Amino acid sequence: MEMKEKVASKFEELFGAGATLYASPGRINLIGEHTDYNGGFVFPGAVDKGIIAAIKPNGSDKVRAFSIDMNEMAEFGLREEDAPAQSWARYIFGVCREMQKRGVKVGGFDTTFAGDVPLGAGMSSSAALESTYAFALNELFDGNIDKFELARVGQATEHNYCGVKCGIMDQFASVFGKKGNLMRLDCRSMEFEYFPFDPKGYKLVLLDSVVKHELVGSPYNKRRESCERVAKALGIETLRDAEMKDLEAIKDKISDEDYKRARYVIGEKQRVLDVCDALERGDYETVGKRMYETHWGMSKDYEVSCEELDFLATVAEECGVTGSRIMGGGFGGCTINLVKDEVYDHFIAEAKKRFNEKYGHEPKVYPVVISDGSRRL
Ligand code: GLA
Repeated sequence: MEMKEKVASKFEELFGAGATLYASPGRINLIGEHTDYNGGFVFPGAVDKGIIAAIKPNGSDKVRAFSIDMNEMAEFGLREEDAPAQSWARYIFGVCREMQKRGVKVGGFDTTFAGDVPLGAGMSSSAALESTYAFALNELFDGNIDKFELARVGQATEHNYCGVKCGIMDQFASVFGKKGNLMRLDCRSMEFEYFPFDPKGYKLVLLDSVVKHELVGSPYNKRRESCERVAKALGIETLRDAEMKDLEAIKDKISDEDYKRARYVIGEKQRVLDVCDALERGDYETVGKRMYETHWGMSKDYEVSCEELDFLATVAEECGVTGSRIMGGGFGGCTINLVKDEVYDHFIAEAKKRFNEKYGHEPKVYPVVISDGSRRL
């Protein structure tokens, strides 16, 4: 059964007729990693995998939510002290609370949902979940919240109810995604443009190491703190405004670790701009080079990669793949690969074989289909 039918029929079984269906996607990011919370640029797009939810207001002040994937029901109220115990339900609860804080009169509702964004792959299943409910509750309870603020609802949910001090990229991409287009977002001004992305002769593919990635309780927040310390030492608001020479000038005043973190971020800011220029020229070789630089920057300076992902990037390079790098927050997850058509089959076969020999299982392969953002179905 298709996911949509599964969600709708489970709703009918549990709660009866009359639900509305909503969907929001996960995301990829071509380049610009750990730049969003530094006021820099990102280059994401929505994917063809996401969350689908069936929702219907129930006239009470309680939410009854059923997760099809967890096969679990959660019931909770809508006051701050009503936070549910299940971590998946806290995302929905957090969205309700953040909508209320923005003046939306969120009432009780019944809901079932399911997803096909691989968990922990770095494609932001959590943003897909948040965006689905933010978009839906805004419609169902006559909120008047614009799409940027819906993305911020998701981000605030992570900050205030899930313990991850994330940037805005994932929720932005999930809400604003557009079929066939990547988006270049300036995370300081929140200006963005759609970028049609259809590189002739190349494919984008994700290789999922299936190494668990859990940003909650991971050193993600520590990375952010490092960046904030360096910005403070430089007397600027975010590393967006720092150049390499500024960093060199305060090298003795900050820890080696903070220095390396900032060196990565400042380099990444420039790489995103280089990639934009290269894309305008159709110069995919440069795009690919910058992707490898990002990978090794994230591995050696930012230290958010892992052995398995370094291995996948190395195999990619040895197979003549144009660009390959770890994608998303890190600490596991997948690589994103820009691959020439003629190299594709060989690369996939080789990556599967060599990864399996070394780690005892194959990586999962997800061809990227750039798709639409949050919507009613
Ligand atoms: C996670 C966060 C994003 C972003 C990326 C790294 O996905 O949710 O805000 O910081 O990591 O680029």
